Amino acid sequence: FLYASTCSVYGAAGADLVTEDAPLRPITPYAESKVRVEDDVAALADDNFVPVFLRNATAFGFSPRLRADIVLNNLVGYAVLTGEVKVLSDGTPWRPLVHAADIAAAFATCLTAPAADISCRAFNIGTEVNNLTVAEIAASVVDAVPGSRLLITGENGADPRSYRVDFSYARAVLGFEAQWTVPAGAAELYTEYTARGLTADAFFRRYTRLPHLQGLCDSGVLDAQLRRISAPASA
Ligand SMILES: NC(=O)c1ccc[n+]([C@@H]2O[C@H](COP(=O)([O-])OP(=O)(O)OC[C@H]3O[C@@H](n4cnc5c(N)ncnc54)[C@H](O)[C@@H]3O)[C@@H](O)[C@H]2O)c1
Repeated sequence: FLYASTCSVYGAAGADLVTEDAPLRPITPYAESKVRVEDDVAALADDNFVPVFLRNATAFGFSPRLRADIVLNNLVGYAVLTGEVKVLSDGTPWRPLVHAADIAAAFATCLTAPAADISCRAFNIGTEVNNLTVAEIAASVVDAVPGSRLLITGENGADPRSYRVDFSYARAVLGFEAQWTVPAGAAELYTEYTARGLTADAFFRRYTRLPHLQGLCDSGVLDAQLRRISAPASA
């Protein structure tokens, strides 16, 4: 049982590289939920149930149904639409990033790994090369999007979520090595967004989760608990 956990379980860990043994300090309800599921699912492990916890770095990368609200996908899309690479924090927080294709490869690797090597283990999934500050991520986007300019507004203040992650355990146990760098991912996103004619409606609403959910609530498709009450008017 491969559980999609997250490196954000480490919370505000500072500049030291965190391993899977580091104390878990979830800051958001999202990260807290991941810690609780890891605990509860680990308690169910036995000879017939082999849970593994993949603590993925923050994802990036193109797909036909991507999320525009994760940092690299967001910065490239915003730059394509407006010409600005707009950072709302002060740019200093550390973020580990990983391409979605590399996450998929890590899951596939776990499927064939010996159960004894992985049962109840947590693995950080990513690569140290992609431990970057938000300002460094933004600089890659400026390089990838012709004519774009960097704007660090700092309007959201300092972001307490900041952590650099050690990925050596997955390398040692699974032989897993992430392949995609952030500059390569930014270039991929620029190519795909422009080739497919990214629109403001797709970027700001359809592929950004909270406005999309709000729209489904407003149009009576979902109730306030996000349960479906009618079919959407169009697919
Ligand atoms: N995106 C990241 O940076 C990131 C990082 C670490 C971990 N994760 C975890 O990875 C997982 C996937 O995240 P994502 O960013 O790809 O999200 P996503 O919203 O793009 O994908 C989630 C998918 O799950 C499907 N889904 C939702 N409820 C379902 C159900 N009851 N049965 C079957 N399918 C259902 C949705 O249709 C959607 O295709 C999540 O558990 C997330 O917490 C994501």
